[in-house]
Amino acid sequence: TRLFLHKRLFTLYKLHRLTVQLVKSRLWLSLGDLMFGNYMGQANLHVFDEWCGSTTDSLRNNVHFPLHPHIRTTVKALAVAPQQINYGLRIFGYLHPPADGEYVFALSSHDNSELWLSSDQSPLNLLLRAWVGKTGAEWTAPGEYDKFLHQTSTSIRLSNQTRYFFEVILKQNNQGTDHVVVAVSTQSRQTISFLNIVESRHFLLFCSTDESSLMIGDIAHIPQTAASHERNNVQKPNSAPDMQREDPRDTFYQVPMINSTLLSGLLPDCVYKPSYTINGYKLERYQGLDYVHLSYIYPNDHTRLTHLDTETTCYYRIKPQSFNSYMNVTKPLVHKGKPAAHSTIKPPKTEVHIEDKVDAVEPSELGDLSLDQWDWEEPIVQSMPVEANSNEKTKWTQTFKINNLGYQGQQSHALNMKCRLTGNIQIQEAEVQAIVEAYMDKFNQTHRGWTLERMVNVVMNVDVRNGKRYLLELEVREESGVLLRLSQYIYALKSTPSPPEKQLKLCNPVGFRWTPEAVVHFVIPVKNQARWVHLLIRDVENLVKDTGDLNFNLILTDFKSTDMNIEEALAKSKIPRYQYKKLNGNFERSRGLQEGINLIKDPHSIVFLFDLHIRFPSSIIDLIRKHCVEASPMDARGLWEVQGFGLLGIYKSDLDRVGGMNTREFKDRWGGEDWELLDRILEGGLEVERFYMRNFYHHFHTKRGMWMSNHS
Ligand SMILES: *[C@@H]1O[C@H](CO)[C@@H](O)[C@H](O)[C@H]1NC(C)=O
Ligand SMILES: *[C@@H]1O[C@H](CO)[C@@H](O)[C@H](O)[C@H]1NC(C)=O
Ligand SMILES: *[C@@H]1O[C@H](CO)[C@@H](O)[C@H](O)[C@H]1NC(C)=O
Repeated sequence: TRLFLHKRLFTLYKLHRLTVQLVKSRLWLSLGDLMFGNYMGQANLHVFDEWCGSTTDSLRNNVHFPLHPHIRTTVKALAVAPQQINYGLRIFGYLHPPADGEYVFALSSHDNSELWLSSDQSPLNLLLRAWVGKTGAEWTAPGEYDKFLHQTSTSIRLSNQTRYFFEVILKQNNQGTDHVVVAVSTQSRQTISFLNIVESRHFLLFCSTDESSLMIGDIAHIPQTAASHERNNVQKPNSAPDMQREDPRDTFYQVPMINSTLLSGLLPDCVYKPSYTINGYKLERYQGLDYVHLSYIYPNDHTRLTHLDTETTCYYRIKPQSFNSYMNVTKPLVHKGKPAAHSTIKPPKTEVHIEDKVDAVEPSELGDLSLDQWDWEEPIVQSMPVEANSNEKTKWTQTFKINNLGYQGQQSHALNMKCRLTGNIQIQEAEVQAIVEAYMDKFNQTHRGWTLERMVNVVMNVDVRNGKRYLLELEVREESGVLLRLSQYIYALKSTPSPPEKQLKLCNPVGFRWTPEAVVHFVIPVKNQARWVHLLIRDVENLVKDTGDLNFNLILTDFKSTDMNIEEALAKSKIPRYQYKKLNGNFERSRGLQEGINLIKDPHSIVFLFDLHIRFPSSIIDLIRKHCVEASPMDARGLWEVQGFGLLGIYKSDLDRVGGMNTREFKDRWGGEDWELLDRILEGGLEVERFYMRNFYHHFHTKRGMWMSNHS
């Protein structure tokens, strides 16, 4: 009986504590709420209506924010699309993870949004974890999680012994497919394609408070937090474009190469013979452009210029407004069965105001919470109507489902001049993973104790008829712990019919390999561009310093510049290896390039036809090598190519074979010599690789003084 009494006392004490809390927050709950947890499976939603702007700060500037929302209600999933304009939302409550583990959260929204998650149940410990945008111009399609770098959080360790306070802030202006979605994945940050929308099926949601019986003036319970009060600038790190942020690709050349003898014989040999190379017939002038296609890349390298992707351009391949047809409205989830009689599910404590001290939750209080005890009703889904009916009441609580649409995966590799892609197209994640897994299996069958550290870069080239070529760039760890770089071309044959066993037919494309030691020559013709030449010399000095690459040579051909002594500047520079040639006559790009090419003695070195006015990353030498494959007397060939066709890398031997620059036809102005060279390169049976390169820019410049005439 003593024990019994103790238990009673303890229960009484707990009831008392709860009552104090409730009184403090002026919140009264009915017994029903307590028993059945009516506010489990929901989160608080506060609507701030009729307020323009598309940044989250514009919402914070609203005088009624955060204490006097127009509407206070709840939602059952973190995926809302009210189909309204000029409003802001604040969603908050608790997340209860189903299991201990690492979670990655992702956000998609139109327009800007923020996801805040506390390190525990206290609103005091909120941290900004992911966001869409900062300036108001950023938005995503529904379910598009890879447009911006910061849409995904880092990996966050959560325990199912506690619940976590969270907040979502959305600001929608007056156009686009308004929505906000929070998705979660238990996979690592590198692989996040299988994201689930946060809803009570996967992740128990709790309201922070039940507001249904409260008056608009009852505001003491409304959390005032970092999310509701701090400005963007405080939380969001510098505003450099995503492409300029660190990426393992940019410095991968510094990682020592794996001994290539370890890689030989892993895969069976196969003949590399793409169906799209030209076999002994002549092209019409400039027809070569039709024979070039794009390579795919993985992981996202953020070369995409997102500001160019409006809802109506080709990126989404969907007509404006028709994102709706991919969004299924859900009838809110409700739990049918009552929790098992023995379970003691309690509502979350109603700790609220930022000033209130928040008690830690005893694990035992949450110990019985389990998703399994809930019998969720199947949601009824229907496609979201395209036109929101303005007479209808806004569906603030309308939630929806959306599949991961993989907008990136819908991109075509065809070059379409009318519909410019704004960045690299991406390989589907599941595909890359299957390939890399299969390759590492082969590797581990032969060598023991190696592990895959990470996929740094994969470039895929698709031959619709024969199969796919992959450049695998993997960081691998030797048994001893040393990290090494594996960078190799492999081929996945298209098997017809597909093999019954789901094995990938990987093979080694004989002869198709790149040479890490190949000498790279930058060839640049100049005339009277002193400022740009000084800049180039400085950039090349830095390049040599950063890479320590001794197999690099700069070749400048100079049409008697009068504005600087280039020869002297080169001699004084810290560039260890360069060649200089003075030329007579007017500036002719083709002749200038060819004169430079003629200085190269070794046919097995790489010519990079370059230009002034270009900013390049220090990985450029490595990039050029990786994407130049010298044509053997057999069939394996390739070359590297960037913007336009004026900058290109090709082995000297191959360039000689196709006849070099056309100096006869193209003299005193740009007149399509790049495209003409492309025709001959393709006619030579070579293959062009084309993709966007990180941190590779063309500076704005005038053409004044460069060419003799002004027509260019
Ligand atoms: C918490 O997660 C662990 C696994 O991490 C699991 O074994 C346990 O059953 C979970 N507890 C509850 C109450 O869900
Ligand atoms: C690579 O491995 C082979 C065979 O083990 C060895 O003979 C060779 O010296 C190694 N090369 C380098 C550069 O370590
Ligand atoms: C939406 O509904 C359609 C048909 O009802 C279904 O085929 C589709 O898979 C649903 N999409 C999602 C994301 O639930």
